[in-house]
Amino acid sequence: MSGFTLDTPFAMKGLQLRNRTVMAPMCQYSVTKKDGIANEWHYVHYTSRALGGIGLIIVEMTNVEPDGRITDQCLGLWSDDHIPALKRIVDTAHAHGAKIGIQIAHAGRKAQDAAQPVAPSAIAFDETYKQPRALTTEEVRAMVKIFGDATRRAVEAGFDTIELHGAHGYLMHQFHSPRTNTRDDEYGQDLTLFGREVIAEAKKHMPEDMPLLFRISALEYVEDGYGIDYGIELCRAYLEAGVDLLHISTGGEGTPSQDKRPKVEPGFQLEAAHAVKEALGVPVIAVGMLDDPHFAAEALASGKTDLIAVARGLLRDPYWAIHAIKETGGDFRAHVPEAYIRGY
Ligand SMILES: Cc1cc2nc3c(=O)[nH]c(=O)nc-3n(C[C@H](O)[C@H](O)[C@H](O)COP(=O)(O)O)c2cc1C
Repeated sequence: MSGFTLDTPFAMKGLQLRNRTVMAPMCQYSVTKKDGIANEWHYVHYTSRALGGIGLIIVEMTNVEPDGRITDQCLGLWSDDHIPALKRIVDTAHAHGAKIGIQIAHAGRKAQDAAQPVAPSAIAFDETYKQPRALTTEEVRAMVKIFGDATRRAVEAGFDTIELHGAHGYLMHQFHSPRTNTRDDEYGQDLTLFGREVIAEAKKHMPEDMPLLFRISALEYVEDGYGIDYGIELCRAYLEAGVDLLHISTGGEGTPSQDKRPKVEPGFQLEAAHAVKEALGVPVIAVGMLDDPHFAAEALASGKTDLIAVARGLLRDPYWAIHAIKETGGDFRAHVPEAYIRGY
C-alpha cells in the first residue's frame, strides 16, 4: 500500500503537482488552417481542465513535421510560429494551478493525410492505410534532430515537462517493434536506437530539472505482437537513455487478434503499469478506464501506479479531478477556483 490519495501532491525533479491526476493526451483534430497552430478551441479545452483541478495536463500528440500528423487538423511544433498560441495555453494553465506538458510525436505510417507517409520500413498498417516509404538512414538522423527542435520550442513555450510518444503504433513505436522495423542499418540492428537518440536529443534542449516522460505501449495485441516482457526491456532501455517517468499504455499497432483483444473494463492497462513499476522500480502513470474515482483511488493506494491519467472521462467532465477528489473524501475545496466555491 502506498498511502497516496488522489489529492496527494507529487514531485519529480522540478515538477511539482498539486495532486496525482493527469489529463491524458487526446487529439482534438481541431486545427482549422492546416498550419498546426493551436486556436481558441485548444485554448478553451485545455485551460478549462486547469480550472477543473487537474494536476498535470498533457497536451495532445503534437507533431514534428507537417506530414508526421495523423491528419492536417492535428497540432504541430515544426516552426517557431507554433510557440505563441501554445504559450498562451501554458500561461493560463499555470494561472489556475495546473502543470502542463506536451506530447511530441510523429505518426509515421499512420499519417493519413501525408501524400506518402514515412516509416522505418515500407510496411503498411493495413489495406486501408497508404503504403509508407522507408526512411533513409540520413533521414532517420534528421528525424532525431527535428524531435529535438520541437522539444526546444516546447520548452520556449513554457511547458513544465515533455512527453515523447512511443506508443499506439506511431513512429517511435514502429521503430522498436520487430513487426514494423525490418531495416538492415543500425536502426534495424538495434530497435531502440531511434528512441534512445530522440531521448538524448530532447534532453539537450530541456532544463536539467525538467523530467522527461515517455508514453509506451507496453504490449501489443496483434497476432505476432510483443508481450509485456519485451515491453519491460524497452522501458529499461529508454530509462537508461534518460527517461524519468513512464506513461504506460498498450496496443495501437494493428487489429487485435481474437485471443489477445483487451477486455474493456476499468483499469484494463493497470496491470501493465504495475508490471513495469515492479520490474524496474520506477514511477509510472497508469491510464485506461480509470475515471471511476474509487477505482482510481484504490489503484493509487495499492501502489500499482504513482499517477492516474484520465482521457475520455475528462471529455465528459472538465471538473473530473475536483469531483473525484470530493467523492473519495479528499480536500477538494483546495482545488476549486474561488469564484466557484459557492457551487459546493
Ligand atoms: C479523442 C481521443 C484522442 C486521443 N489522442 C491521443 C493522443 O493524442 N496521444 C495519445 O497517446 N493517446 C491518445 N488517446 C488515448 C488516450 O490518451 C487514453 O490512453 C485512452 O483513451 C484510454 O484512457 P481513457 O479510458 O481514460 O479514455 C486518445 C483518446 C481519445 C479518446
